[in-house]
Amino acid sequence: MKGENDLLHKTLADFLKERRPAPDLFAHCDAFSQALDFQYAIGHHMYRRVLHSANSNRVWVEDQKTGKVREMIMMGSNSYLGLNNHPRVKKAAMEAIEKYGTGAGSPPHFSGYYDLHRELESNLAKLKGAEEAMIFSSGYATNVGILSCFLGPKDTVILDKLAHASIIDGARLAGCRIVTFRHNDMNSLERVLKETKNQDGDRLVVVEGVYSMDGDIAPLKDIHFLVRKYGAKLMIDEAHATGVIGDTGKGSPEHFHLEGEIDLVMGTFSKALGGVGGFVAAKKKVIRYLRYYSRAYFFAASQTPMQVAAHNEAVKIIFEERHWHAKLWENIRFFHSELRKRGFDIENTQTAITPIVIGDTLITKEVTKFMDEQGVFVNPVPYPAVPRKKDRLRLSVSALHTKEDLQKVLDLLEEARNRFPFGKKTEATAI
Ligand SMILES: Cc1ncc(COP(=O)(O)O)c(C=O)c1O
Repeated sequence: MKGENDLLHKTLADFLKERRPAPDLFAHCDAFSQALDFQYAIGHHMYRRVLHSANSNRVWVEDQKTGKVREMIMMGSNSYLGLNNHPRVKKAAMEAIEKYGTGAGSPPHFSGYYDLHRELESNLAKLKGAEEAMIFSSGYATNVGILSCFLGPKDTVILDKLAHASIIDGARLAGCRIVTFRHNDMNSLERVLKETKNQDGDRLVVVEGVYSMDGDIAPLKDIHFLVRKYGAKLMIDEAHATGVIGDTGKGSPEHFHLEGEIDLVMGTFSKALGGVGGFVAAKKKVIRYLRYYSRAYFFAASQTPMQVAAHNEAVKIIFEERHWHAKLWENIRFFHSELRKRGFDIENTQTAITPIVIGDTLITKEVTKFMDEQGVFVNPVPYPAVPRKKDRLRLSVSALHTKEDLQKVLDLLEEARNRFPFGKKTEATAI
């Protein structure tokens, strides 16, 4: 019983700690496997659930216990506009397979660069209001590839406290000094910029257009002003902003009328663009340099023609079919206002990402299990992915959700809160 209670409270952070004094390389895997089996057995393991249909507002998902496939409302996908299953996108991918086959055959500098790649890069530059753009095999590789290319041991990267793992890993690979400022806090950023002003080396500030766990927007106008005032450079990660913010969904540069003003605009295809991969848009000379000195680009195979054709069509749809963006925002406004009316703590989200803060790891898992049983797919984000007492569900609204879908989710969240003791937003939790 004591053993079970211990297993119940294990988090991913525990197995990192146990790794160090291990007697052999894989010793910590036994304890981790045992904990994982336990989590599966009690229905607390809600990762890698198996889907049997396209990711959409409704999906067919395999039940982890029974193996039966059942329909669920999907609230855990980052495909904010539903473009992963859009007929134009699928047709473009199929036509590209017919014409070019499956693989690209090589990295871009050798035989892996097609007319399709060139056209996509040109459309991405337009999307972000930049001179030129280039594509990487993943968003993760894009961040790692940019930071490790431009920064070295003498340089400093200045990061928002909530920076994504791929940004941190890029900085680690670069071997530069890493300094953080408080999340979206301009006084804190200015303090760091002042403190680092006279040191050797260059400085790059990296922020995210929309933060991936909280859904709030970086105050880019103010950040841009401070970065220029103190003579640093600015990079923005548009993973969750592309397709979502800006009058027509082009992302942060459009939203803040800063087209052509941000030094490096990085984005991913894996969210609103419905695919996989990453890109960066910048001045022509910067992109030219990256193409030769970013190892994540130079030494990696090109995206397949099929992917590139799909991504290109998705970008064109953002330009041409504005109603997806409008519908996404209608859904975001409805869902957030209902959650706030009902007293849920959804942090300061301003976009499709909707955290439901629960504040306790076990209750977060129980609520996820309850929602799963009731036919709603939500992602649990427990400690250590977020700070202690900030454990949460992470829901994403999409343009494909119907009012009926969202209403059902709202009612079930209320039922969950009646069953499990997670509080309404109070003065104390609001701080
Ligand atoms: C802010 C942010 N940057 C970068 C990435 C990495 O992108 P990808 O998953 O497309 O490799 C993600 C993905 O989760 C992200 O949320």
